[in-house]
Amino acid sequence: MKIGILGSGDVAKSLAGGFLKHGHEVTLGSRTPAKLDGWKAQNPAASTGTFDAAAAFGKLIVLAVSGKAAADVLRLAGAENLDGKAVIDACNPIADAPPVNGVLPFFTTINESLMELLQREFEGAHFVKAFNSVGNTLMVNPQFKQGKPTMFICGNNENAKESVRGILDQFGWETADMGKAEAARAIEPLAMLWCIPGFARNQWTHAFRLLTQ
Ligand SMILES: NC(=O)c1ccc[n+]([C@@H]2O[C@H](COP(=O)([O-])OP(=O)(O)OC[C@H]3O[C@@H](n4cnc5c(N)ncnc54)[C@H](OP(=O)(O)O)[C@@H]3O)[C@@H](O)[C@H]2O)c1
Repeated sequence: MKIGILGSGDVAKSLAGGFLKHGHEVTLGSRTPAKLDGWKAQNPAASTGTFDAAAAFGKLIVLAVSGKAAADVLRLAGAENLDGKAVIDACNPIADAPPVNGVLPFFTTINESLMELLQREFEGAHFVKAFNSVGNTLMVNPQFKQGKPTMFICGNNENAKESVRGILDQFGWETADMGKAEAARAIEPLAMLWCIPGFARNQWTHAFRLLTQ
């Protein structure tokens, strides 16, 4: 599949590596594509470009940018380049303030999520929350002695979630579909929980797993 990744940071690059590994075509987008020249030299099969070029290229889009800038980046990408496409939203609404006893501050409140705000503005896009609550080094085929970790996802469009489930299968995750966009109110703060052992004990090598009877 053709994947347009909006972002030039660690998450964008890690997920791009996963998509390339599993045989997808990738274009990474940035306001300043030249900053990706070094990465492109190491990943010659991939392309780089502006946010709108990456969005136009992708049949599936990945949003992996600073939460504060997410709406701006989608505006630069162009709503017309998102219409009818699944948009994997890996972003977290992290505020400009340090963690308090290891707990990251968010700029959203408990009864709203960043993904709902984005879904409201970009009605034609099919947002699916995923990859927000695990570190980028563990996003692609992570190995854990207890078995496959669980990725919690949500979104309003069933076909888009089905596409994301297929990618999560390839990337070695079990998918737990938590329902519609509002579930992002619960999934986004999992990132806070995931980071606490990191800030408290410099432990960043875990992932969540949902146990069922
Ligand atoms: N780091 C992790 O392990 C991890 C894990 C899970 C989820 N996340 C979430 O994933 C997202 C990406 O994280 P990251 O660590 O890879 O990168 P990041 O440093 O949070 O974001 C970098 C990206 O944000 C864009 N950006 C920043 N300010 C902007 C602005 N004012 N206008 C337009 N674009 C702007 C940059 O665009 P340019 O390319 O144009 O500079 C760049 O592509 C974040 O929301 C983060 O919370 C991170």
